[in-house]
Amino acid sequence: SSSLPEGYTVRPLRRSDYKNGFLDTLRVLTTVGEPTLAEFNARYDFMYSRNDTYYILVICNEAGTVVGTGAVIVERKFIHNMGLVGHIEDIAVAKNQQGKKLGLRIIQALDYAAEKVGCYKCILDCSEANEGFYVKCGFKRAGLEMAHYY
Ligand code: ACO
Repeated sequence: SSSLPEGYTVRPLRRSDYKNGFLDTLRVLTTVGEPTLAEFNARYDFMYSRNDTYYILVICNEAGTVVGTGAVIVERKFIHNMGLVGHIEDIAVAKNQQGKKLGLRIIQALDYAAEKVGCYKCILDCSEANEGFYVKCGFKRAGLEMAHYY
């Protein structure tokens, strides 16, 4: 099944989610900082103006508060016949909501969106600790991440 728990919904990120738990949900993943409303809105508007490239989903609980999120960014290539690749990023489920298949539903929805817009694959980077989660989502280990921090 691909249903959410009773009362939960999945939808695209909205500007109003600044005040609705979106950033707090991301804090389970990493450092977020304290963006102002204006900073958030500017970044949101940039992404929304490119909504054929940035797909950001949230899951809300019965109260309408964001408790899960994830994104897929569609990269346009010259190789593979002008191929498209989906990059799954910034998957987070609020601590007290983990283990309800919300993460799985986010990945399924992002993966479906990427395939629908014509991506030939979706890729992501994760820690060893999260490998089992992504295997359950249908992914398999491929390659090696490298990073250069500034
Ligand atoms: N290792 C192995 N299996 C796991 C793990 C794990 N770390 N996490 C979940 N699973 C399993 C579950 O047991 C479940 O298995 P089942 O179908 O046999 O019951 C299945 O994977 C689906 O789990 P969900 O309930 O959908 O997982 P959840 O909603 O808790 O979300 C997530 C998983 C997103 C990793 C969550 O724990 C989280 O937000 N963690 C902190 C932030 C984080 O690490 N995000 C991912 C970063 S990588 C990236 O963003 C590309």
